[in-house]
Amino acid sequence: MALLVQITDTHVVERGKLLYGKADTARHLAETVSEINQIHPRPTGVLITGDLVEHPGPTTYSHFRDLIAPLEMPVYLMPGNHDSPEIMLDYFSDTEMFPAQAPHYQYAIEAFEFRVLALNSHFDNSELPFFGERRLAWTEQALQESDRPTLIAIHHPPMQTGIEFIDMVGQEWYQPLGELLSRFPNVIKIICGHGHLDLSGRLGNIPVQMVGSIAHQLIAGRVVDIAPAFDNVRVPPMLHHWIGGDIISGYYPWPDGIDAERIDRSANMDWEDLKEHMRGAMK
Ligand SMILES: [Fe+2]
Repeated sequence: MALLVQITDTHVVERGKLLYGKADTARHLAETVSEINQIHPRPTGVLITGDLVEHPGPTTYSHFRDLIAPLEMPVYLMPGNHDSPEIMLDYFSDTEMFPAQAPHYQYAIEAFEFRVLALNSHFDNSELPFFGERRLAWTEQALQESDRPTLIAIHHPPMQTGIEFIDMVGQEWYQPLGELLSRFPNVIKIICGHGHLDLSGRLGNIPVQMVGSIAHQLIAGRVVDIAPAFDNVRVPPMLHHWIGGDIISGYYPWPDGIDAERIDRSANMDWEDLKEHMRGAMK
């Protein structure tokens, strides 16, 4: 069984500080880490798809590292636009969390029943996405190495969203990636972050899942272009679940004390008996 948990856009800041003076991103991440450790069954690994910190440097990466330290399963890191892949490579070099190499800062994860290619869309000192020749060439070579079912992870969404402040960067940056991936039918899904909101779309025939942020959400106009609003809440962990030859994705909250709310307990009935009752109701 492969259970990949994804969280994204944690935007950790210096200890004791709030993001924009209002979002307690350290608390949001600590709560998320605790929630992931309670999930049944235990996830196989956790992938954090970028914007790990708000401003990259040893101070913020140290804070981030302390916050994720309690995770009881392997952790994999990717850079977002707020990160520095160079600093990450140096700072996490004594761990297994970022096994990438310069100059592309990408890597494959083989620990699951599906393969994960952790790609890099970071562009120096910019919010903008980038996916140039060297990253594309690495991706092509990685795809040629294996025909295992493959999940692509990338920070920026390589899809149209209908949200102006995301779509305004244009489609040019991801078109070559889309053409490359279309040649590999074993690529079954793309996952990303960046938008601080939850949305599913498509790159060619490949479904794209953009996951909400741990730091805060953006409430954005979709049919009309309205400036996004800051909503100071985190989303639950996203679970990508390998089942029946596909990857099924959805938030998988596991709040404190939820076992007491189970319907078998409130109905004081055995769960197998309850299911039998449900089957009877279907007849
Ligand atoms: Fe972000």
